[in-house]
Amino acid sequence: MTFSKKAAILGLLRNAPGIVSGETLSRQTGISRVSVWKHIRALQTLKYAIEAGATGYRLKNAPDALFAWEFGRREPRIHYYGTLDSTMTPARKLARANCPAFSVVVAEQQTHGRGRLDRRWDSTKGGLYFTVVLHPRISPLQSARVNLYAGLVLVETLQEHLGVAAAVKWPNDILVEEHKLAGMLSEMETEGDLVSFINIGMGINVNNDPTGNEFNAVSLKQILGHSVARKPLLEAFLDRLEAGFGQAADDDVIARWKAKTITLNRQVTVVTHNRTVRGLAVGLDPSGALVLQQADGSTVMVTHGDCFHGDITQP
Ligand code: BTN
Repeated sequence: MTFSKKAAILGLLRNAPGIVSGETLSRQTGISRVSVWKHIRALQTLKYAIEAGATGYRLKNAPDALFAWEFGRREPRIHYYGTLDSTMTPARKLARANCPAFSVVVAEQQTHGRGRLDRRWDSTKGGLYFTVVLHPRISPLQSARVNLYAGLVLVETLQEHLGVAAAVKWPNDILVEEHKLAGMLSEMETEGDLVSFINIGMGINVNNDPTGNEFNAVSLKQILGHSVARKPLLEAFLDRLEAGFGQAADDDVIARWKAKTITLNRQVTVVTHNRTVRGLAVGLDPSGALVLQQADGSTVMVTHGDCFHGDITQP
């Protein structure tokens, strides 16, 4: 595995107890001392606090950066942008060009962050906005399970990594005490009878304040009372996503999802562009559709829509 020069320089600085000479950095990375200096200058511009003195360099502090070189073996698969319209845009191009599975497009901020049902996703600095490209060898009928799986992975990651107890609201909103912490948008293309890609876009409110645009939203910083580093969170999510991906479309995902949802056994209202359905959420069918029991006792399945907990007349 070859790492970029910046990854190599940062690795050496991070592992050293004190100052590392320009000579050592040059020898270990295979580039000239002038090139080392240029990389150091570039890193300083990117807010890495690197002290440069007569005897060499010392890393005093590093920002919570999402640059590709921060991701170790994943570096070639991370596509980092400062500002983008939406991470879904380059992710689609990458997926159509058959990029490696688990390629990730990540942006500090999005100018046209996309939410479900043609909504806008508030994407100011401090949040975590990324799209992962997946190439599951499954039929399009199983694709909803992969979406459920991705939501589950985020809930489990939040619990394990930060001790935050989150739950899923159908189909894939991540809530903490009924407040929206994260949302997920997926995009799929097929080729013949198989999925060619599923792109999962995640927007997680981390250190941003989402409440200006969305009264019911919450951020990790608001929940925990302190800032949260985004890079280890993204890494923990990707580790878990990749590790369990072989089972992402299994029947079992439905049962695992049911254990993490707060939608079931509640009165809900699901709104789509042309209808509103109300009822008790009694189950999830194998394709991920929500099963509602209506007031007259009949059951109806909803495959998509905006789900509100409660019997809401004017959502
Ligand atoms: C929702 O409406 O709840 C889904 C929000 C999904 C937002 C994420 S942020 C990263 C990716 N890029 C986008 O433009 N949208 C998704």
